[in-house]
Amino acid sequence: MKQENILKNSTKFFILKVKKDLVLEIFGNKKSIKIESGQKLKDIFNKKNYKNLKKAKKQNRKTFNIKWKKRKYEIYFEKNIFYFYDITLYCKVQSKLEKSLKELRSKKEELQAVFDLAANGISILDRNGMFLYANKFFQNMMEYSMEELYKESCISLSSPEYSAPSQTAVEKAIQYGSIEKFKKICITKSGQRINASMSLSYLESRDEIVMITSDITEEIEYQDKLEKQIELEVSKRTEQYELLCHQSRLAAMGEMIDSIAHQWRQPLNSLGIIVQGLRHISSQKNIDNKLLEEIESDIMDKINYMSQTIDDFSTFFRINKNKEQFDILISIEDAIRLIQVQLNNHNIKIEIDKKNITNFEIYGFPNEFRQVILNLIHNAMMQIVSKNISNGKIKIDIRNINNNLEIDISDNGEGIEKKLMPKLFDPYFSTKEKGSGIGLYMSKVIIENHMNGILKVRNIKNGAKFTIMLAKE
Ligand SMILES: Nc1ncnc2c1ncn2[C@@H]1O[C@H](COP(=O)(O)OP(=O)(O)OP(=O)(O)O)[C@@H](O)[C@H]1O
Ligand SMILES: [Mg+2]
Repeated sequence: MKQENILKNSTKFFILKVKKDLVLEIFGNKKSIKIESGQKLKDIFNKKNYKNLKKAKKQNRKTFNIKWKKRKYEIYFEKNIFYFYDITLYCKVQSKLEKSLKELRSKKEELQAVFDLAANGISILDRNGMFLYANKFFQNMMEYSMEELYKESCISLSSPEYSAPSQTAVEKAIQYGSIEKFKKICITKSGQRINASMSLSYLESRDEIVMITSDITEEIEYQDKLEKQIELEVSKRTEQYELLCHQSRLAAMGEMIDSIAHQWRQPLNSLGIIVQGLRHISSQKNIDNKLLEEIESDIMDKINYMSQTIDDFSTFFRINKNKEQFDILISIEDAIRLIQVQLNNHNIKIEIDKKNITNFEIYGFPNEFRQVILNLIHNAMMQIVSKNISNGKIKIDIRNINNNLEIDISDNGEGIEKKLMPKLFDPYFSTKEKGSGIGLYMSKVIIENHMNGILKVRNIKNGAKFTIMLAKE
């Protein structure tokens, strides 16, 4: 194609040959530029452009830009010829480019600020772990300047025992893309040891690793302190709990000795009478063998009863170390047997209502459970006695609800004052002159902490009702 043709078809480029203010010739795509020869420059361009054209010519500026018909042109002129280049697209692209560049620059500044303000060490490593960059925080933390860090690697800054694991961490980050919260000890320039947690992320396109380092020395020290504190607290509590257990058992023992005294009084009396009777028989000449046998069996009965009592009480004080399957009805009956004589003395009736339940098995500590029942019955008895109730009654109801066994122990001792309710299960809370106030506290600990059950209380018509709920496992 001839040069002229190229010009004719080009929409990007045209030439005007002028004489003074008049267009002599036009080269280029006339249709698109719509300029005729003979037109005055003044008429073709707007006032501003025309002025610029003139001014440029006058000042002999060889190139300048104008905006014309919504497009931008770069104009070059020589003698009386103006060359017009349409640079609209170029300008658009350039402005976009500039905008992107500006954004990029501000992003870089932003990133730099983030790096510098971060309260973590941020560094960039090559694939061997050598430092390529580190933010201020990291430099301060490790006490190295950037110039010094260029000669170091994340492996060389580790304490010796962590050199190999650090090497592996870098390799793993490259292999898997990242590794998180790798804990190690770093050594600062002055030789200080720092507990650090590192996260490494591999940037595949750059073959570099970003490493975030947090100093967790204080955290670890705090954790250690906390652990020690917890240990101390637990041991204090255990000590306190053991003391309470001990006190509670002592109190129970006192009650037991009371019971033994009561339970032995009658058989001892009987034995006394029998011994007196024996003296009378021995003064007779013919000793009746049959009578002697009867006396012997009578004595043996009393002695067996007394030794049974001692057995009952001694098993009561045995502590179960392990949980076991046991029958709560038997435990309740055992507890009643231990206190029966005292109940009789105070004319208090006790009854068990077990509905149609046949299975009373629970998984837990039978002796501790029996102690709870004894505590509750003993409290009910003391309440009835203190209120001088003549027809004292203690009722034990056992219910089976949704695989739970519920045991109510209710009395007719006029109940508990409302204001005392919130303190009832507190250790050392007692309204009795010589009460230790541990009974209910201990009972709650046993049922709720040792046997995962619930122990609660409420007042009923003439008295109080304690309820124990236990899951049949
Ligand atoms: N059945 C009850 N009716 C009314 N008040 C009760 C009943 N059971 C317990 N209480 C009240 O709860 C208080 C705390 O009982 P808890 O068994 O913990 O201690 P305590 O009986 O006073 O002393 P301890 O049992 O150590 O000899 C009692 O002093 C009493 O005021
Ligand atoms: Mg008590």
